[in-house]
Amino acid sequence: MKIISVLNHKGGVGKTTFTGSIAQALSLTGKKVLAIDNDSQHNLSSLLNVGVKHPNILDIYAASPSEAPKLLLGSIVKTGLPGLHLITSCSGLLDSVVSDLFHLKNAIEACGLERYYDFILIDNAPGMDKLQSSAINACHEIYVPTELKQFAVDGLAEMERVLKERCPQGGRITKIIPNFYRSIRRQNTFIAALNTMFPGRVTETRIPVDSVFDEVVTEGKILFLHRLYSNGAACYIKLVHELFMLDEDGVWDSIADKRIEHIRAQARDRYYKKRRKAE
Ligand SMILES: Nc1ncnc2c1ncn2[C@@H]1O[C@H](COP(=O)(O)OP(=O)(O)OP(=O)(O)O)[C@@H](O)[C@H]1O
Ligand SMILES: [Mg+2]
Repeated sequence: MKIISVLNHKGGVGKTTFTGSIAQALSLTGKKVLAIDNDSQHNLSSLLNVGVKHPNILDIYAASPSEAPKLLLGSIVKTGLPGLHLITSCSGLLDSVVSDLFHLKNAIEACGLERYYDFILIDNAPGMDKLQSSAINACHEIYVPTELKQFAVDGLAEMERVLKERCPQGGRITKIIPNFYRSIRRQNTFIAALNTMFPGRVTETRIPVDSVFDEVVTEGKILFLHRLYSNGAACYIKLVHELFMLDEDGVWDSIADKRIEHIRAQARDRYYKKRRKAE
């Protein structure tokens, strides 16, 4: 089981979109995934069409070390995809609820989640405070989606410095994922700068600007089931292949099969609904 924290100092760079899309894509390829919403905005829960549940991540932080594992297990809920589970967040989640930066790590370890999940993905709020530090201590790898703008690129060097200082045991960026990519010279210059600063750690796949990400959230749809042939979905499939070394054709086949199953199931439901009405 691999635990990944999705982080960036900056807000609005695509952390939640990345976490949700990767979680959905992995689960559609047959992996068992637990997504954890570690942000009081609870956008990841919304993206996965799950409202705030109780208990949730706040209750896990607030529980005693001995009770936290039980609450963690009790806070896991299903999403619209069978292989994807979620721990929701809530607006009351504040840094002050974290009293021990290893509380989340200890709770995860005590639950034996590796028997069930292949991946745990933790979405974080912007910034670098106690909630983010808890996620860093709990994870094996840190993935950082970023915009391709001067301040964003400058911020990543600073972020790695802060990571090392705050979390000496695990503070290193594993992968940087360029987001909001437009193939223009200025952005390619930023990519080149990132590759110099973080050699081998910038993904080759860049996520393009695509309105599909806003569309699926607004409509409560799943990117890979409802907009599989969009540029955004195709790039995320390529990214899953690159980040997790999964066969790209295999990922496509598996997601396309699940999409067909989904369309069939929806058509069947519509048919039986109409028939019941007519009877
Ligand atoms: N590649 C993209 N192209 C177009 N829109 C995108 C892209 N990636 C993300 N978005 C949109 O940008 C907005 C911000 O994305 P998101 O919420 O994922 O960022 P975030 O880093 O999680 O924000 P926060 O720091 O507030 O948690 C959302 O409306 C999302 O749909
Ligand atoms: Mg977010």
